[in-house]
Amino acid sequence: MDLRQALRTTGATRSFTDREIDRDTIAAILDDARFAPSGGNRQAWRVIVVEDAAKRLALRDIYLDTWHDYIAHILGGLIPFSPLATDDDRAVAAAKRDDAIAISKPDGFAETLHEAPVLLLVLADLSLLAALDRDLDRYQFAGGGSIYPFVWNVILAARDRGLGGVMTTMAVRYEDRVFDLFDVPDGFGVAAVVALGEPTKALSKLTRQDVASFATYDSFSGPVVENPNRAES
Ligand SMILES: Cc1cc2nc3c(=O)[nH]c(=O)nc-3n(C[C@H](O)[C@H](O)[C@H](O)COP(=O)(O)O)c2cc1C
Repeated sequence: MDLRQALRTTGATRSFTDREIDRDTIAAILDDARFAPSGGNRQAWRVIVVEDAAKRLALRDIYLDTWHDYIAHILGGLIPFSPLATDDDRAVAAAKRDDAIAISKPDGFAETLHEAPVLLLVLADLSLLAALDRDLDRYQFAGGGSIYPFVWNVILAARDRGLGGVMTTMAVRYEDRVFDLFDVPDGFGVAAVVALGEPTKALSKLTRQDVASFATYDSFSGPVVENPNRAES
């Protein structure tokens, strides 16, 4: 597939056919994904392919608990899990949790996560991460930059094989439960759970902000980067 086309059309797929994805295909996807960049080329990712039905269900339960928290934020008019949230924001979200559970759909992606053809748990070996912001007095995210390119490569490698998928981070919130479930040693963090499979739907056009909305020259408030390709969106 043309790279530019892949960049512009690879979205989140959350609905899959029953087609089974064999182990060789999963291995081949990981084999492509491992060429992702990482700080110092430390390649701190670790992947657990979740096949066991009981573990899949337990992982779904962990995901679902966060999903309810996520919807509670939306119902409360908040950006879910913003690092800049106040205590008041947290209280608003907590108060909406029961409402969120009440509107949970039995056939939703979160509710049926355990049925995804492929579930990959991606862990980060914290001892290997280059977290350049670790000493800053703000929310830290640079270390994730050494893991998420790999996760995105998994999605792209799956796409190249006619599959779709989505990177999810809901399980991060209750990672201690994930550690227990998968016997993860100390020193690791949960980075993502990736669901993959054959998409049930054709691709739809992705909605993204225009370049001029996020890029400027020379200072934050400098002239915007005009985009001659804008009409293509
Ligand atoms: C870091 C990250 C975390 C995400 N977490 C979740 C998640 O927990 N659950 C989910 O369904 N989608 C998750 N997504 C997918 C986003 O919702 C998706 O990329 C975004 O809404 C754009 O969707 P589109 O590509 O279909 O337009 C995540 C994406 C990223 C990059």
